[in-house]
Amino acid sequence: MQGSAFKLLEIDEKFQLLHPGQTVVDCGAAPGAWSQVAVQRVNSTGTDVSAPRGTVVGFDLLNIAALDGAHFLPHHDITDPATHAKLQQLLPEGHADVILSDMAPNASGFKELDCEKLFSICLSLIDLAEKVLLPGGSLLCKYWDGILREECMSEVVWPAVGQGQRVDGGGEVRGVWI
Ligand SMILES: C[S@@+](CC[C@H](N)C(=O)[O-])C[C@H]1O[C@@H](n2cnc3c(N)ncnc32)[C@H](O)[C@@H]1O
Repeated sequence: MQGSAFKLLEIDEKFQLLHPGQTVVDCGAAPGAWSQVAVQRVNSTGTDVSAPRGTVVGFDLLNIAALDGAHFLPHHDITDPATHAKLQQLLPEGHADVILSDMAPNASGFKELDCEKLFSICLSLIDLAEKVLLPGGSLLCKYWDGILREECMSEVVWPAVGQGQRVDGGGEVRGVWI
């Protein structure tokens, strides 16, 4: 299992985000480690016949190797509204219980520029969540420390996730969508 899978497992142990039967969107899913964890946790292969079967849909700018239990959309950009429309079509009843985002732009070497790019990715993520995330759902979003960190958290993420549980630490955000 890849290192990033352990990161998601650790977060999930702590916050109990993923459960059998849920629908999960994995944003920036390549090469697929988080999706592997999601497939197991939501039982999207139906391996546990006594538990409800979930759904995992992932997308990325890059190609993603096929994974049993997941539906991947390679060459899809979070900032493109067409990606949001495609996801709405694919998700059961157009909704998701959990949105995971490990998305990050390629590092340019200029910290401010990279933070601006990640900020714009976060804006698109919130836009997607407004369209598909169910009330009471969870949004897990990666962000970096940088000049736009406070702006991103206070003006974009927290108002969007409302009054639910807020955990801000170690580069991950968990908000409960209301
Ligand atoms: C750290 S990697 C994700 C690793 C993945 N969670 C895993 O466990 O295998 C970040 C991914 O975000 C993707 N990404 C960056 N910008 C994106 C965008 N605008 N839309 C979709 N994916 C994007 C990158 O292509 C990259 O594959």
